[in-house]
Amino acid sequence: MLSPHPRVLSKDEELGKRDDDFRPKRTSSIGFIDPRRWRKRRVLLMLVVVGVLWLVLRSVPADLGTGVGRLVKERSSIRGEPTGAPPRGEQDAEDEERKKQYYNGPIKFFRLATSLHAISKTMGMRAVNRNVLFAAASLRSVANLMPMACEMARWDRNYVHLALMGRNTMSLDEVLEINGVTKEGCQVTFHDARADYSEYSSDLRLEIAVAGAMKHVNDFMHPQAIIMDDSVVEVPAFTRALRVKGKALGRPVIEIPKDGYERFLWLTRLDAGSLGSWFKPRIDVLVHAPKGSSGSLVRMLKSFERADYEGLKTPRLTVELPSEIEPFAKSFLRDMRWPLEVEGGSESGSGLTLTHRIPTEHLSSEQASLRFLESFYPSDGNTHVLVLSAQVELDRQYLHYIHYTILEHHYSMYSTPQAGNLLGVALDIPQRSLNGSTAFVPPTISSTRAPELPAGTKADPDDPAPFLYQGSSASATLIFGLKWAEFHSYLSNRIAASHTGKAIKSRKLVSETEPAWLEYLLELIRARGWYTLYPAMKFVTVHDELAQVPEEFTREVEAGQKGAETLRQNDHPEEEAFLIADEAPMMPKRDEGKLGGAGKPLHEMLPFDGDLPELAKLPLLSYTGEIVNETTLAGQRVAFEIYFREYIGGCDAEDAARPRVVRPEVALDLFCLPDAEAEYAETAEDVEESIANILGSLRERPSAPEFAVLPHGLPGVGGSGTATVEKAGAATATAD
Ligand SMILES: *[C@@H]1O[C@H](CO)[C@@H](O)[C@H](O)[C@H]1NC(C)=O
Ligand SMILES: *[C@@H]1O[C@H](CO)[C@@H](O)[C@H](O)[C@H]1NC(C)=O
Repeated sequence: MLSPHPRVLSKDEELGKRDDDFRPKRTSSIGFIDPRRWRKRRVLLMLVVVGVLWLVLRSVPADLGTGVGRLVKERSSIRGEPTGAPPRGEQDAEDEERKKQYYNGPIKFFRLATSLHAISKTMGMRAVNRNVLFAAASLRSVANLMPMACEMARWDRNYVHLALMGRNTMSLDEVLEINGVTKEGCQVTFHDARADYSEYSSDLRLEIAVAGAMKHVNDFMHPQAIIMDDSVVEVPAFTRALRVKGKALGRPVIEIPKDGYERFLWLTRLDAGSLGSWFKPRIDVLVHAPKGSSGSLVRMLKSFERADYEGLKTPRLTVELPSEIEPFAKSFLRDMRWPLEVEGGSESGSGLTLTHRIPTEHLSSEQASLRFLESFYPSDGNTHVLVLSAQVELDRQYLHYIHYTILEHHYSMYSTPQAGNLLGVALDIPQRSLNGSTAFVPPTISSTRAPELPAGTKADPDDPAPFLYQGSSASATLIFGLKWAEFHSYLSNRIAASHTGKAIKSRKLVSETEPAWLEYLLELIRARGWYTLYPAMKFVTVHDELAQVPEEFTREVEAGQKGAETLRQNDHPEEEAFLIADEAPMMPKRDEGKLGGAGKPLHEMLPFDGDLPELAKLPLLSYTGEIVNETTLAGQRVAFEIYFREYIGGCDAEDAARPRVVRPEVALDLFCLPDAEAEYAETAEDVEESIANILGSLRERPSAPEFAVLPHGLPGVGGSGTATVEKAGAATATAD
């Protein structure tokens, strides 16, 4: 099949000759007996190597080798684009399967330059910007993505682009027409990124053309995120190239699952910063199952399995089991596979961790809190923990809601001071005040702080509104990783402080029907001025049958004391930091209510047309349930901080009132402990620095060069660099 090239032969002869010169020495050392045979072998080997090289080089045309393809820049060049079929080599004709897709020639883009040059004038070339790119190769995928792209453009938070990259020959105008889209009705910038002869491209050429087009597109607009259709719908060569290119450029490639176009429409309301961080948040679910809760636990886990995870990163699940587990729950957990089977998933089941409590004689509040907190620690600022009680049943859309709110409030291009104070996101709406004695009245739209509603939306003033509340709940709350880490640090210092004997025992503010760690968390929330975001409509149902008082607050009935419950046995008074009521708490009756959604996509369930209002506009409730403003809350925070340092943190009155340097994730500034040096903020700069520290810790800790200074001077993360490409729906499968 291969006739050796004469030049190759002569070269080889030469080599052989040179080897001959060294023959005597070589033969003696490597022991070849017949020099003529040895030379023949070398010649044959060289021939094979050269032949293979020749084959490889021949199949990759010059321009393909560079992987880019030429962008033909002249405006008039569209007329220069060749038509008809490109020349066909002899061997290509033998390929029966892909008769038409034979062409491997150099790649030129005749139609891309015009639209790219047009945007570079208006949209700038900065690495951090508002550009979002939809890319599609198959016409079906164009049709699937078109409504989403137009909707995103209508919300006007991003510059939206749609690039056509496949093999089809329809002109851009025709494509728009068959999709019923006009350039006036849909403010998307369209790019025709198809190469010349794209119709005839071999798979390899198409793949390289897509990569080349992406390079040009990136040079001109640096898209923050790339959105594509489900890979089962798209052309495989396109998918491969886009994933590789996305990874190389450090941009997330978001794959919308087929028949998920409606369910994911909420992403059109996100800005480029949030979309660029699409794969960053990682959620760990932590379920604490108390004694005798097996029935509820199984119900909870079933609802967890039923929820909608397609296209999102599947959360990891940790279940903290009580010392005694009923057999049916044991067998349910044994058979549970998490994450659910994914295509070719060899690691299915690896996302579930079980921990099991070893019973102790008596559990103090302190130990119960420590045990609970120790069951999770974030690996970085992008890992967040969703605390779930065994009593809840989740809405199918819960993860969509969490993902949406985290991306919006935690990763958006513009950070706000409110976002820095956000402890987490709740899925439930409380029904009782924190101490359980009065009913909690959720605020309505009429109490939102902004006079007008978000862009052109209508809502009844009496409708429930999302709100910020200092109280937190253990039933279903997501807590941001860095806040959780700070809570860890806080708790260890707090325990050290209680054990010095200087801390007074304060009255419990959180009902004893709630786990003990919430009381500690409330202290930290008050000292920091944090709050949790609550939804307007809940994403969990909390069942109250089988609900029980947490182990650390159960009283033992002593024989002889007829019916009356004794005071909680207290062998280690230093492990109880709070005063506990004399009588046992009563489990409140809850109105289980219904979940609002009933199969509607998220953007239709949420108020304000699915838009998430700015945090600064939401009603703000202090831990007592009173509606306050930021100024009042800040005043309360400072007062509590000083009180805390003096009565709990072990400081004397003078030190307690001195401003301290606040370090992110370290809660040392609230204490005066014997073996820790107190850092006082002596100057205005120190105070500023500590504020900047808190704001900087907002999302993650980017290394210095990745910082982008946003218009109002706050450091933000523009999604540069670290995003990974992941196959949507698969837990950890990365693109090939
Ligand atoms: C419980 O909390 C509510 C609201 O914060 C408050 O009005 C009430 O006095 C508290 N009750 C007790 C017994 O502390
Ligand atoms: C905040 O609320 C307090 C008390 O209700 C009020 O005196 C103050 O003027 C308010 N501040 C702002 C900025 O609205």
